[in-house]
Amino acid sequence: MPDDSSGTDQVLPHRYADLAQRLESQIHSGGLRAGDRLPSVRELAGQFQCSISTALRAYEHLEALGLIGSRPRSGYYVQAQAATRELPQAIALPQSQPSLISSDLVSTVIDTVSRPGLMPLSYATPAPEFLPAASLNRITRNLIKQQPAQALSYLMSPGLERLRQQIAARMNAAGVEAAAEDIVITNGALEAINLCVRMLTRPGDTLLMESPTYYSLLQVAEEHGLRVVEVANDPTRGVDPEEVRRLVRRHRIDAALLAQNFNNPTGSLMPDAAKRELVQILGSAGIPLIEDDVYGELGFNGQRATPLKSFDTDDRVLYCSSFSKTLSPGMRLGWVLSRRHRRELARRKFTASCAAASLPQLLVSRYLDGGGYERHLRGMRSALARSVARFADVVLREFPAGTSVTRPQGGFVLWVQLPDRIDAMELFAQAAQGGIAISPGTLFSAAGQYQHHIRLNCALPWTPKLEQALCSLGWLAARMLRKSAAAGA
Ligand SMILES: Cc1ncc(COP(=O)(O)O)c(C=O)c1O
Repeated sequence: MPDDSSGTDQVLPHRYADLAQRLESQIHSGGLRAGDRLPSVRELAGQFQCSISTALRAYEHLEALGLIGSRPRSGYYVQAQAATRELPQAIALPQSQPSLISSDLVSTVIDTVSRPGLMPLSYATPAPEFLPAASLNRITRNLIKQQPAQALSYLMSPGLERLRQQIAARMNAAGVEAAAEDIVITNGALEAINLCVRMLTRPGDTLLMESPTYYSLLQVAEEHGLRVVEVANDPTRGVDPEEVRRLVRRHRIDAALLAQNFNNPTGSLMPDAAKRELVQILGSAGIPLIEDDVYGELGFNGQRATPLKSFDTDDRVLYCSSFSKTLSPGMRLGWVLSRRHRRELARRKFTASCAAASLPQLLVSRYLDGGGYERHLRGMRSALARSVARFADVVLREFPAGTSVTRPQGGFVLWVQLPDRIDAMELFAQAAQGGIAISPGTLFSAAGQYQHHIRLNCALPWTPKLEQALCSLGWLAARMLRKSAAAGA
């Protein structure tokens, strides 16, 4: 696992992130053009009056994003594709209320992509190489030896107290007021979200969701018989609070379910000022907000993204997250934080399944006590940033002209917009036949949109086989485009 901890002791995260952000803006505004040579690390440090390690870290960050590259003994240059990399266009949402996608479509895709042996570009799941597998395995063995009774018996809802204290401490550090007794441990974030949705709404009620959004959240709404009002998620800024204000005026909305830190699939990050405004708009309309923050720890600028919950002054945000994206999706360990609803949530969790599994709770608690989590997160963030940038470069190089990709600021999925003549469902089917699993865009919309989009999971170790799979996908897309052009001509 790559480790970026070298030399970080004199680097203030906000300083280098700030510097990287300024350079990035210059690249996108055309102030710095493809091929331009950048100042040396020493010159940059002089210009911005920062330490050499801060300047170096800013360059390393931009390099991981694929915006700049280094040449031996010659310095840093703006990458050829950096300035021209287009973002997928936001799609106009239908004015009428969407009827939800059928769960059948999700099941068909999941059945297909779960076949063994496929290149796993479909699920948003980090490969074990990105996870602290050795530490987790060692702790598990010790736990079973040292605490067999606890590891094998129930840890009733709301869950292990020490773990809830540790989560509360992490939430406090992220600017959220939290105490252990406000937290209920769940089977992953998805169960936390399910508990909140079912507690706050009745069938026939209306849920505000973003578009595109993670398909399991659409299924939660569908299975509970909810109507959905969609608000567009911009690939860079997330949801526009003004648009939410307009929708709140126009519809009777019973609850909102949003992920503003590295949304799945766009990777967008809502600016803090907009987060404050969003929480205020929903709060003053009395609409509870379920925050899904499973990717919040995985920002490429080295900082934890600010939770919406940190702007919540009257306890209307129900915060849901998990260790699925940072430690292990298979442990199914998540939580919900809500002082207002804690008793009801703990009761519902108990009714649903008594408790979350004991061993993962003890395991994560011991792992957090061991003190290696922050270091692991640092390494994981920069490894993911590099991987996402590499995926984006290969997609732009290998896919037909007219393809655009997002530039996520965290997380590990890439949202790819294909030329309009390419049907993503067809590409999905052909790719599966060729041994590659991808997610077609339609899954991420309540209204069957994104027919020309796909989502790629980038949390995989880079291998020749992986690069070959991306090249094959590009080749399939180009062939579909040629065929469709020939048929339409
Ligand atoms: C946006 C989002 N929310 C929730 C989940 C579910 O998380 P968990 O595996 O912890 O249930 C996922 C998993 O892919 C996700 O991408």
